[in-house]
Amino acid sequence: MRKALAVVLAAGEGKRMRSAQPKVLHQIGRLPMIAHVLKALTAADVGRIAVVVAPGEDAVAKIVAAHAPGASIHVQSERRGTAHAALAAREALEQAADDVIVVFGDTPFVTAAAISRLRDKLAQGASIAVGGMRPADPSGYGRLIEQGGKLVAIREERDASAGERGIGFVNGGIMGIAGSAALDILDAIGDGNDQHEFYLTDAVAIAAGRGLDVAAIEIPAEEVFGINDRAQLAEAEQKFQERRRAEAMAAGATLIAPETVFLAHDTKLGRDVVVEPNVVFGPGVTVADGVTIRAFSHIEGAHIASGALVGPYARLRPGAEIGKDAHIGNFVEIKQADVGEGAKINHLSYVGDASVGAGANIGAGTITCNYDGFLKSRTDIGARAFVGSNSSLVAPVRIGDDAYIGSGSVITKDVADGALALERAEQVEKTGWVARFRTRMASRRRAPSLG
Ligand code: UD1
Ligand code: CA
Repeated sequence: MRKALAVVLAAGEGKRMRSAQPKVLHQIGRLPMIAHVLKALTAADVGRIAVVVAPGEDAVAKIVAAHAPGASIHVQSERRGTAHAALAAREALEQAADDVIVVFGDTPFVTAAAISRLRDKLAQGASIAVGGMRPADPSGYGRLIEQGGKLVAIREERDASAGERGIGFVNGGIMGIAGSAALDILDAIGDGNDQHEFYLTDAVAIAAGRGLDVAAIEIPAEEVFGINDRAQLAEAEQKFQERRRAEAMAAGATLIAPETVFLAHDTKLGRDVVVEPNVVFGPGVTVADGVTIRAFSHIEGAHIASGALVGPYARLRPGAEIGKDAHIGNFVEIKQADVGEGAKINHLSYVGDASVGAGANIGAGTITCNYDGFLKSRTDIGARAFVGSNSSLVAPVRIGDDAYIGSGSVITKDVADGALALERAEQVEKTGWVARFRTRMASRRRAPSLG
């Protein structure tokens, strides 16, 4: 088994993003783009991963630690080009590897299959293997210059002649280099170009000039789509969504208007789940079989058990655990709360830091008052409890099993199992008051005092 090292170049904010945050942290499907790359590398089973970041990019290092715990982090002191970046990982390159794979953190759709194909080329004796593609629009990418069917150079667009710009076969930004030659070739790259940058792509001309075997393989363009600006970020998101929607439908979910449903990288929809139009899934959502999510709902960090009905216009926030056959209706927000089997919270409620027992019925406008400006406290509502409309449950508080809460109550003390609690002023009624009132007001209008 050949040993591999993957070097992920991920330094910098990416000028054209015009962002305060590193480019590779911008998200696709609610996952930073570099995490997509790390997932592919993990799936490809490359043994070691080295990630190159800019000084102070601790946020990138943190994401790397979460998605590729064994990866080493290397800091590129100044942004001086992709070859300079690769050499920032010199320490990792000095440890023997058969295959060195250089990938870019801004190319999130790279696949394990493409990485394996590059490694195959190296195993067959190539010193350099370039992942090329033929995108509909090649602008911005380095052109692959071939002579007599052999790859001899890669020309960056800004350095290319008009003729070279006409070439449709371009550098996808993934390169395999034989481990035995990698440091030697990288060290030979100079910065004699228009931008005074050390271009990784010059490795090709150097290797070809030495008579080494240089190969290009063609990778489907959608797998090496590079992101340099916000428009490309949006385009990548669209491609990702199309793929995820197709996967969800192939797995047995109905998306009535798929183009309006937004899925996160890890959204799991069971069979016979129906998702109505305009639903947004954030990260960390699992939806069991037979759930219906009605239109305009926003769901993140939530688990929804089978047969539940959610929405329209529901908001499930992190920690929402919706039980089997439960109903969460319109304008209901649930956060850090377990909603028991068959419980109903159908209208205009906020339930946070709470548990709602099985079969409980939470009336319209019920609010769990979980925050006093300093601390969050819990509300526990028992099984089959009935909370009347427009009630405020001031946490910490417990409503017993089978308890009833009268509408409009502000409940501040625990309510025992099976008890009725209500908290409101006595109703006052004045017989004949309206007629007296009208007479009094009408006489004032007839004799206006104009001061
Ligand atoms: C690069 C390639 C181009 C290829 C395209 C594919 C070079 C010189 N050009 O161009 O041939 O068609 O990718 O998408 O390699 N980076 C660093 N340090 C640096 C410079 C870049 O870490 O000093 C990282 C960036 O974070 C980025 C990646 O390398 O993730 C690529 O850099 P970028 O500036 O986006 O290169 P492109 O112009 O897209
Ligand atoms: Ca790029």
